[in-house]
Amino acid sequence: MVTTETGTLFLHPDRNLAMELVRATEAAAIRSAPYIGRGDKNAADGAAVDAMRKFLGTVNFTGVVVIGEGEKDNAPMLFNGEQVGTGNGPMCDIAVDPIDGTSLTAAGRSHAISMIAVADRGTMLDASSVFYMDKIVTGHEGIGVVDIRQSVGENIRALAAAKGKRVDQMRIAVLDRPRHQRLIEEIREAGAGTRLILDGDVAAGINAARHDTRIDMAIGTGGSPEGVATACAVKALGGFIQGQLAPGTDDEREKGAAAGLTFDHVYEANDLVSSDNTFFVATGVTDGELVRGVLRDGPMIRTESIVLRSRSGTIRRVVAEHQVSKWLDEDELFGL
Ligand code: FBP
Repeated sequence: MVTTETGTLFLHPDRNLAMELVRATEAAAIRSAPYIGRGDKNAADGAAVDAMRKFLGTVNFTGVVVIGEGEKDNAPMLFNGEQVGTGNGPMCDIAVDPIDGTSLTAAGRSHAISMIAVADRGTMLDASSVFYMDKIVTGHEGIGVVDIRQSVGENIRALAAAKGKRVDQMRIAVLDRPRHQRLIEEIREAGAGTRLILDGDVAAGINAARHDTRIDMAIGTGGSPEGVATACAVKALGGFIQGQLAPGTDDEREKGAAAGLTFDHVYEANDLVSSDNTFFVATGVTDGELVRGVLRDGPMIRTESIVLRSRSGTIRRVVAEHQVSKWLDEDELFGL
């Protein structure tokens, strides 16, 4: 904190910010909820983006979107580089995913969340020029024993030993994609079980890093922005994450290199987000293992969120009840 002639300047985000951020993910989840199962992922995402942006505009911070909805021309709102917040308060990097799991939402499937991650300004890796990243996430037991350069079998055995579990008790979350066919075989050949997910590798990564869940490790290739957001949560959970950028085209490789990214480098948690002052909040859109989804109960809408802060190492669950009439007009409710 610095006091100047014009007032007090807060240089670092403090704990109050977390509760402000959760209002923005709650808003995004509520506004997208009428679109659950309606088959229109853009409409669901649009409603979430709109609501999140509106709420972020009221938060006292000077946020720069490092991970957003994409480049300015393609994304009219929450684009990379956009400044959000009131402009008063701490200077932050912000990663937003108004819905991680837009297809899940449109289909009415589980595990869609709305999320925001925040860290001190200039500390999040801007990996936006390369879409995919190979990632591995575990709880704290993986630190010093798991490494993305080892085979998946070695990593599973090392983690099982560190956790005091049998290999056949290990559950490994992987995005169910053709590109992961060999990886899935290797996991099963090692004697572990897979937890195949259709989408949403941020929630899967967090579940791998949390204690007391059914997932021991999340592995595979997913979005690189999601990797940086996951790192903010993993640092708050004291877990383990590594990533390696996986450019799909020469164009991406060139743009990534021009942005200072390297492709043989293993990005550790501190490379993905160097700050030790990270915040992560997520609200359930549809029910999932991390948080429950939006639930309409008569005149009320219930939301469940998780709030993580690395400085304190706390994991908070926030269950909120909101009056339907304050949020949505009759014609906006559809089937909610
Ligand atoms: P969106 O909801 O933003 O579409 O992202 C869903 C997601 O599953 C991410 O969680 C994951 O990192 C990425 O897509 C994987 O990409 P792809 O679907 O191309 O395999």
